[in-house]
Amino acid sequence: MALLKQLALGAGLAALLSTAAQAELTGKVIGFSQIGSESGWRAAETSVTKSEAEKRGVELKFADAQQKQENQIKAIRGFIAQGVDAILVAPVVSTGWDEVLTEAQEAGIPVVLLDRGIDASQDLYLTSVASDQVKEGRVAGEWLVSAVGGKPCNVVELQGTVGSSPAINRKQGFEEGIAGAANITLTRSQTGDFTRAKGKEVMEGFLKAEGGGASICAVYAHNDDMAVGAIQAIKDAGLKPGSDILVVSIDAVPDIFAAMVAGEANATVELTPNMAGPAFDALDAYLNDGTVPEKFIITESKLYTPADNPQGEYDSRKGLGY
Ligand code: AHR
Repeated sequence: MALLKQLALGAGLAALLSTAAQAELTGKVIGFSQIGSESGWRAAETSVTKSEAEKRGVELKFADAQQKQENQIKAIRGFIAQGVDAILVAPVVSTGWDEVLTEAQEAGIPVVLLDRGIDASQDLYLTSVASDQVKEGRVAGEWLVSAVGGKPCNVVELQGTVGSSPAINRKQGFEEGIAGAANITLTRSQTGDFTRAKGKEVMEGFLKAEGGGASICAVYAHNDDMAVGAIQAIKDAGLKPGSDILVVSIDAVPDIFAAMVAGEANATVELTPNMAGPAFDALDAYLNDGTVPEKFIITESKLYTPADNPQGEYDSRKGLGY
C-alpha cells in the first residue's frame, strides 16, 4: 500500500515536473526585432509570431525596424538593457551583426535568427530557423526549365533587398536551376526590395527596355509581392501575365494563389511564416535544461502551381489569418 502511495506520488510529481518543463517559456520576456512590413509574407510572420507567443504565455516585446539595420541594432541593445530572457531577430541584411550579438552573448541572452541568415560566427546565436533559400531558387529555376521545354526563353529577375540572405541565395539557386538549360537566358536582374511597388516599377523598366515585353518569356521574382507588382506592370503593358510572360516566385501568400486562379501566375515556392513555433520550441528546451538545438532548423520549400488547387490554398491561408 505504502509502495502504491509512493508510486502515485511519484507519478504525480513527474507529471507536475513535465508540465513545468513544457511551460518553461510561460512568463518569459522575449524581444523580437522584426525587419518591417515590406511584404504580405512578412506581415504573416509577424502575426504568427505574436499568436505563438500568446499561446505559450510569452511576453513578446515587438520592434519594427522599418527595413533599417540601424533600427534593429538599436532595438537589440534596448532588449539587452531591459534584461529580456531571449531575443528573436529577422536580420534585414547578412553583414554587420558581430558587435551587437557579442553584446547579447556577454549579457547571457540567447539569440535566435528568424528567416534570414547572417555572415557571423555561429556561436553568436543559439539557432537559426529559416528555409534553404538556395533550394527555393533552384526549385523555381527547375520549374521554369520544365515549363518551357526546349523553347528559347529570356528571363528577367526581380531580386530581393540588396545584401539580404534570401536575395543572395535565391539568385544563386535559380542560376543553378537553369544552369543545364542552354535555351534559358537570364537577361536582366535588378532589386525590387521585396515590395510590390518596387516590383511593379522595376518590371515597367524591364518591359520598356525589352521592346514592350515582346522579348521577355518569364519573370522570376524573389518574392510573391514583387511578382504581384510585376503582374500589374505586364497587364498595363497590354500583355497577359501567366501566358505571354510566365510568372514564378517564392512565398506562397494568398495573393499569388488569387493570381493563379485568375491565370496570371504560374508557380510559387512556399515559405512558411511560422518560424516562431520552432524558435520557441528550441528556446523552451534550452531554457529548461540547456538542450542545445541544431544550429540550423530548416523549413520546407514546396512548389505550388495552378494544378495544386490554388483556390483552396488561398482560402486555407486566409483562414490562418494572413
Ligand atoms: O526573408 C524572407 C523574405 O522576406 C520573404 O520571402 C519576403 O517576402 C520577405 O520580405
